[in-house]
Amino acid sequence: MIELYLNANLTPPCGLARQTADGSWTLVHPGHSECYHSAAGALTEARHLYLNSSGILDTFAQGECIRVLDVGLGLGYNALATIDGWLQSGSHARLEILSLENDEGLFQTLRSGTAPWQMGWDSVWLNLVKGLRHKGGGLWQATMLSSGGGALLWHVFLGDARSDATISELLKSGPFDYVWQDPFSPKKNPGMWATEWFSIMALAAAENACLMTYSVARRVRDALLASGWQVQKIPTTSHKKNWLRAFRLARAEDPT
Ligand SMILES: C[S@@+](CC[C@H](N)C(=O)[O-])C[C@H]1O[C@@H](n2cnc3c(N)ncnc32)[C@H](O)[C@@H]1O
Repeated sequence: MIELYLNANLTPPCGLARQTADGSWTLVHPGHSECYHSAAGALTEARHLYLNSSGILDTFAQGECIRVLDVGLGLGYNALATIDGWLQSGSHARLEILSLENDEGLFQTLRSGTAPWQMGWDSVWLNLVKGLRHKGGGLWQATMLSSGGGALLWHVFLGDARSDATISELLKSGPFDYVWQDPFSPKKNPGMWATEWFSIMALAAAENACLMTYSVARRVRDALLASGWQVQKIPTTSHKKNWLRAFRLARAEDPT
């Protein structure tokens, strides 16, 4: 296993970069003593769990406007793998992503394009993160066009996901068709896996929206069920037995 101690300008201190099994890099969070990604592969997890298992790649071929809520931007893999999938598909669909992140130091390191985990990243990814521009308050934005004529609008909103400012932003930016729920584990970050949080997600999500995550813990499934989601355990492509896919159930207030 390859590990690097970072002396970069990461705040709060994010001590250790670690190479995962597919060659992509992750970080160990010093406070949580937990990696940002599975050791099986940061990039592989983004592609297999979030893109392939959600069906979003098929939606790129058919949809007109696809909205993705990326809960926990972190090192950027899930958001950038989503944009990559959209670019590779040659989609003409509009793609809107809202990424939530409360660690501004980590976000600024991501934007630098020289973070240790960005070793080997291609120029499209680097240009995208370096192209994120401040739009005021906690909001950052990058845009691009696909070869199929589709437009990307990528927003990053900095701040606690459960703050009033973030909730107002995500209700304004939805309804989301896909949610990538990736805010550290339920054990380390329980508030982001509670009924209150999934109820906010349900409000911000479209009917039948698909939420993907790695935790199949009983309390996570119970919290989702209690807040208007139907849950499925699905087989993984890694050493872990199951991932979780959830669909937002219809509500009386949904447009007909
Ligand atoms: C496991 S990492 C996400 C990895 C990321 N999805 C990627 O593809 O690289 C979890 C991220 O969620 C962020 N996070 C955790 N709790 C949060 C909260 N309440 N509000 C906003 N971001 C949060 C953390 O700062 C961290 O960057």
